[in-house]
Amino acid sequence: MVKINTCIFISGKGTNLRNLIKKSREYNFPINIKLVISNTKYAKGISFAKINSIPFVVIDTKENNFEIKMLKILEKYKIRLICLAGYMRVLSKRFLNLYGKKIINIHPSLLPKFKGLNTFSRVIMEKEKKTGCTVHYVDEKLDSGNIILRKSFFISKKDTQKSIKTKTQKLEYVAFPEAIISIFRYC
Ligand code: GAR
Repeated sequence: MVKINTCIFISGKGTNLRNLIKKSREYNFPINIKLVISNTKYAKGISFAKINSIPFVVIDTKENNFEIKMLKILEKYKIRLICLAGYMRVLSKRFLNLYGKKIINIHPSLLPKFKGLNTFSRVIMEKEKKTGCTVHYVDEKLDSGNIILRKSFFISKKDTQKSIKTKTQKLEYVAFPEAIISIFRYC
């Protein structure tokens, strides 16, 4: 099986990165993680790239021409899919057009509800009955773009912000790989 060269973008802990690295080792899983890009050297997730000998690069979005730097390195590694896994920056329309290949994002809510930050506290404040996660194609707006799949669970009276976060992230580790499989099913 020819696997799709993939780059994972991160900003933080990188538990989705860790999960995707593990999945990518499975014979039938369609991607090979060739590169990790972080917008900060403080992202804990970089350690998963290091441990697994995956090349990584820090590209601060405050740098001049940071998008050109990204495009160059994506081209160098022949990247055909970008997965945003906790990457807390919005990509510009110009970048999306110039890159021109698939970019997907995972978000810890049932989009279009609760875009942006502090999702779990807002879910509780709004007394939602259900929540979950969404994998979607990326456009130039925050947590926007066509939805690939959503996974949900019912919130119980005992749930707290912490337990909702734990349950949502557990679902993310299933949803992201499933979404990747679904987009390459017919390729
Ligand atoms: C994940 O829960 C992801 O859904 C969220 O950041 C977390 C990253 O966790 N992304 C967003 O909120 C994007 N708007 P991780 O670094 O442990 O994978």
